[in-house]
Amino acid sequence: MKLSEITKVYGNGSLQVPVLHGIDLSVEDGEFIAIMGPSGSGKSTLMNIIGFLDYPTAGTFELNGENISSAKEKQLALLRNKHIGFVFQQFFLLPRLNALKNVEAPLIYAGVPKRERTERAIQMLEKVGLGDRMKHLPNQLSGGQKQRVAIARALVNNPTLILADEPTGALDSKTSAQIMELLVQLNQEGKTVIIVTHEEEIADYTDRIINLKDGKIIDDRRTRP
Ligand SMILES: Nc1ncnc2c1ncn2[C@@H]1O[C@H](COP(=O)(O)OP(=O)(O)O)[C@@H](O)[C@H]1O
Ligand SMILES: [Mg+2]
Repeated sequence: MKLSEITKVYGNGSLQVPVLHGIDLSVEDGEFIAIMGPSGSGKSTLMNIIGFLDYPTAGTFELNGENISSAKEKQLALLRNKHIGFVFQQFFLLPRLNALKNVEAPLIYAGVPKRERTERAIQMLEKVGLGDRMKHLPNQLSGGQKQRVAIARALVNNPTLILADEPTGALDSKTSAQIMELLVQLNQEGKTVIIVTHEEEIADYTDRIINLKDGKIIDDRRTRP
């Protein structure tokens, strides 16, 4: 994907809050990227734009060589469901549904029949090491287990891109390392992974670190050849 001169301004009239200023960013398939920067620097806003959860105010967005800057919400929703898996710091699991049902949920929206939904959800929970916790409710799981369920849910539509906004922000360092190893594995299997993090140790798992400050990219470096 290629973002060119992306800007984002929240609000309107006299209450305009400029948040992103001319972001230029190219991401190749299979990259593993960390976006870093102080609180309020625009990391989540940029992730939301990359994931079509939010529109830029100006600038262009190319996906697979096609300019989709003026695509309508319906087309973006299709692209999002087909290509992107989201993971958040707060997990956002549905509290009354067990792990299996949480992972199945995106497949209901995608219209996948019941039996296939269950099979795919079981497969993903096994992949993240939770084959023995499928009937547990979120409040019966540890933070790390909850994030694994959230990652299984993000994977169940077989996305090409995983966007994770501070996925280890609510976890202790040992659990964080396990979650990062899972993301490394997914990247090695071919997924493009972009994470937002505050922590240098977390960013060290990735191949490229982008630093944002006041809505601008101030540094963009590869940490591995
Ligand atoms: N919906 C919104 N309306 C107005 N301002 C917003 C909105 N979302 C974020 N902001 C502002 O944009 C700036 C960047 O926010 P954000 O992208 O969440 O930063 P980060 O993730 O780096 O902490 C902040 O000053 C924040 O207050
Ligand atoms: Mg944020």
